Amino acid sequence: MTKVIMDCDPGIDDAIALTVLLAHPEKADLIGVTTVGGNVQLDYVTANAKKLLTFLGSNAELASGQATPLVKEIETASQVHGKTGMDGYDFPKNSEDYPLTSNNAVTYLYDRISNCDEKVNIVATAPLTNIALLLKVFPEVKENIEHIYIMGGSTLQGNITLAAEFNAYVDPEAAKIVFESGLPITLSGLNLTENKAYMKMDEIDHIKDLGHVGVMASSIMEFYSAAELKNGHTKIPVHDACAVISLIAPELFTKSESYPIDVSLTNDEFRGMTYPDRRVYASKENNIKVLEDVDREAFVKYIFDSIQSYEK
Ligand code: BDR
Ligand code: CA
Repeated sequence: MTKVIMDCDPGIDDAIALTVLLAHPEKADLIGVTTVGGNVQLDYVTANAKKLLTFLGSNAELASGQATPLVKEIETASQVHGKTGMDGYDFPKNSEDYPLTSNNAVTYLYDRISNCDEKVNIVATAPLTNIALLLKVFPEVKENIEHIYIMGGSTLQGNITLAAEFNAYVDPEAAKIVFESGLPITLSGLNLTENKAYMKMDEIDHIKDLGHVGVMASSIMEFYSAAELKNGHTKIPVHDACAVISLIAPELFTKSESYPIDVSLTNDEFRGMTYPDRRVYASKENNIKVLEDVDREAFVKYIFDSIQSYEK
């Protein structure tokens, strides 16, 4: 059975991604969740992970990780995810009791991955701070990592700035370390998540009809969708779900290309920009598989079916 650890900053679309992942125990065994400061501060994202794991009936291990990026100051996205990162739904109070296996995600990841009897997959839907530290401090762990599925970067437009996607922008040094790690990586960037794998507003409205998990998902998505509409989107991206679905249902993605990708570390308008080397004579080292298209209707149906499956 495919073993997975999800590194995330819930966050609305992280919440949808985790909901989809936990709906498919036949595809992936979620052994752990690690949190990192990103969409909102670390305390909030860890509390949100506890709420989700309790609500979704998981017993995955949970470790909280790095509060701030490797080098830069943290910048959050509370304008899109709300003050606590997941407002709008009254989760059961007992979620505060969800046990924290560790408050050091980096050593947790190292111990858990190295002692696992199978190679472990990582789904990373946040700034890559925890994962970069893991690979830098404990490079031997790479031997037991199967693949990293990342939501981050873009081969076209940015979102937080003209050039950069939020996760790559918040911790570009970490993104560079992970991209250059030599590990197999599949990337869901904005070129996919915004341009191809979006949901239409009537599809977002339908989520509330998908049972009790649908009610939770649609309640937390209310703030997020409104913020995206205010930002000028007419269609709503569910970025992080792409990274999860690229692991558990890769057949939905209809086009991909592999390139080496560099990350701009400058402190100007190019900070966090991820740029692929498309030259035919580009070095073939550190090739990253960039997802470029998806069967959008099948992708949306996969999310619906996953949410609905909690009613069975
Ligand atoms: C990414 O940034 C975050 O706001 C989302 O959760 C997603 O991981 C999109 O740029
Ligand atoms: Ca995220």
